Amino acid sequence: MEARIDEIAEDIYRLSVHVPDIAPPAGLTFNHFLLRSEEPLLFHTGLRRMFPIVHAAVARLMPPETLRWITFGHYEADECGAMNEWLGVAPQAQVAHGQIGCMVSLNDMADRTPRILEDGARIELGGGLGVRYLDTPHIPHGWDAGVLLEERSGTLLCGDLFTQVGDGPALTEGDIVGPAIAAEDMFNASSLHPGMGATIRRLAALAPGRLALMHGPSFRGDGASALRALADDYDRRVDSAYAAAGRSLSPSRP
Ligand SMILES: [Fe+2]
Ligand SMILES: [Fe+2]
Repeated sequence: MEARIDEIAEDIYRLSVHVPDIAPPAGLTFNHFLLRSEEPLLFHTGLRRMFPIVHAAVARLMPPETLRWITFGHYEADECGAMNEWLGVAPQAQVAHGQIGCMVSLNDMADRTPRILEDGARIELGGGLGVRYLDTPHIPHGWDAGVLLEERSGTLLCGDLFTQVGDGPALTEGDIVGPAIAAEDMFNASSLHPGMGATIRRLAALAPGRLALMHGPSFRGDGASALRALADDYDRRVDSAYAAAGRSLSPSRP
């Protein structure tokens, strides 16, 4: 199996692996993003068992041992399962993640000490590229969740947000909200809570021109509108969950 490589913005590469056995028959893509620069950054290490595939893909773009930053959306196998394999092959590499993720998992699980990113922290990558880290706790899941905004291109590396099934194009200008709603109906992967709308609208305020999805195509266009539509859908889900709970509780109320 080989990763498909596409440049979705200047020096930002999507390394995509489609796994047909997950959510068949459409399957699910696992996307890893390499920001090729003086201090190269990988967003999503890939599953530990997928390391040879992602490593081979990175090797087609640069010497893997020059990787400097290992980043991801939250602590789960598909986001960071291969982080220690990367630390093993790239001597200058360091994991960088938010305070909660470092405190809860990475200070123990990473083979070298991670860099703790406060909300809003910036990493300069050289060559004009730079990322800003934003905490998005529990969104779409994981207490430690966060996203990265590459500021030159306006690319939001948004992890599991907008997850959809299937093996679509690398970059689309089409609808990504409808397929994300359908996938949420299928997986129930999001941690519904009242703060999600506000947190996602905060991302919309960044007005990203590209959204780099972990599971789905990358999107080019009005990222703010897509994020606001996703926030609206989560608000609807939270409201209906409260309403359903109220109905189930009401018979026992005095
Ligand atoms: Fe996840
Ligand atoms: Fe994921």
